[in-house]
Amino acid sequence: MKMTPLLLVFGGLMVFWASVFAMVIIPAITLDRTPSEIWRPWTEKEAKGHDLYVKNGCSYCHSQFIRNFDWDLGAERIAASGDYAGQTPAILGTERTGPDLSQAGGEHPDDWHAAHFTNPRFTRPESLMPSWEFLGKENLENLTAYIQAEGGRDADFRVARQQEWKQAALAAYQSGPDANIQWLHGQIPAVWQPMPNPYPATPADLGRGKKIYQQFCIHCHGSMGDGNGAAAPYLQPPPLNFTLLRRHLVENRYIGGIFYYQIMNGITGTGMPYFKRELESEKIWDVSNYLAVMFLGYTDANLEPRGIEASYEPPWKNGYEAPAAEDVK
Ligand code: HEC
Ligand code: HEC
Repeated sequence: MKMTPLLLVFGGLMVFWASVFAMVIIPAITLDRTPSEIWRPWTEKEAKGHDLYVKNGCSYCHSQFIRNFDWDLGAERIAASGDYAGQTPAILGTERTGPDLSQAGGEHPDDWHAAHFTNPRFTRPESLMPSWEFLGKENLENLTAYIQAEGGRDADFRVARQQEWKQAALAAYQSGPDANIQWLHGQIPAVWQPMPNPYPATPADLGRGKKIYQQFCIHCHGSMGDGNGAAAPYLQPPPLNFTLLRRHLVENRYIGGIFYYQIMNGITGTGMPYFKRELESEKIWDVSNYLAVMFLGYTDANLEPRGIEASYEPPWKNGYEAPAAEDVK
């Protein structure tokens, strides 16, 4: 067949309409618009938050759908078309510079979002997400409401759980340091309470711990570990002042397992996030040792050798002693 200008135009149009048919018309006909079991309508605040999300280009960095092969990234739920019923536009996004947000509701309490939206570096020191403080308090509240609705009914359950635990965490915080420590440790299973840190507190381990502290913790717990980081004014209860934990050492000279458990799981209802998806086991032990040595002046590392570098000496041979009651008054 000879190529003529007419044939070129006709062929081009054929290709165009074939693509429209495959990518627009077939999906439009076959798309299931029945709401899924987690779907619920937005409130007015959430709808305003959705608008802000669209207008401010959050979708350039965040996606809102989870694919089958994302299970191994710790996904909560694979996206179903009914999750998006009635959303205009449904902002699926394609970029994942930041995490997927389709199940972000209830991951963090509202106060964490207030700190994070004001300046993401407050809660995550190396974040590249822009600050949204310029949007003003009301807009940030709407944006938070929208994010807390991500995940529909599943998210509502998580949000309610955060709110319930927040009451308990606040009540404990307001009852003073001893009651607060008792409450915090009361949530930790008994086997973790007498567990020493199995990693030695060598300068190399502490150096790694310091780096992790600076990358993940410092703007909440503060450079002195006293809880006075830049995020502190936004958080209720505020980040823990680690130096208060010297009181704990009077009764129980083990702290490694307690730190590990709290850092791994986070503390529901407070701004303390879980790190089990981001930090491998060794990193959590290293940062635990760093907290203990830097802010408590103590470590229980290698009290009992646990199969690694068993030749290390117990710490009291190297000058670490648990404080006596009169030292912490
Ligand atoms: C330039 C890219 C970028 C843009 C634009 C951006 N983010 Fe982010 N976002 C990130 C990165 C990276 C993270 C992970 C680090 C952190 O927590 O800040 C993140 C984290 C988050 C988280 C916390 C997720 C979690 O569970 O820890 C939320 C919520 C969030 N962003 C919402 C938004 C909203 C809403 C907007 C628009 C107003 C937005 N982001 C715009 C990059 C971006
Ligand atoms: C967004 C702020 C924030 C970040 C980031 C954060 N924390 Fe926390 N952390 C808190 C809050 C809030 C509490 C609970 C305070 C309370 O209930 O009194 C807490 C509690 C803790 C506890 C509990 C101690 C105990 O004895 O029960 C540990 C351990 C801890 N944080 C370590 C870390 C480490 C390590 C990092 C970084 C890898 C980190 N935190 C990052 C806010 C934060």
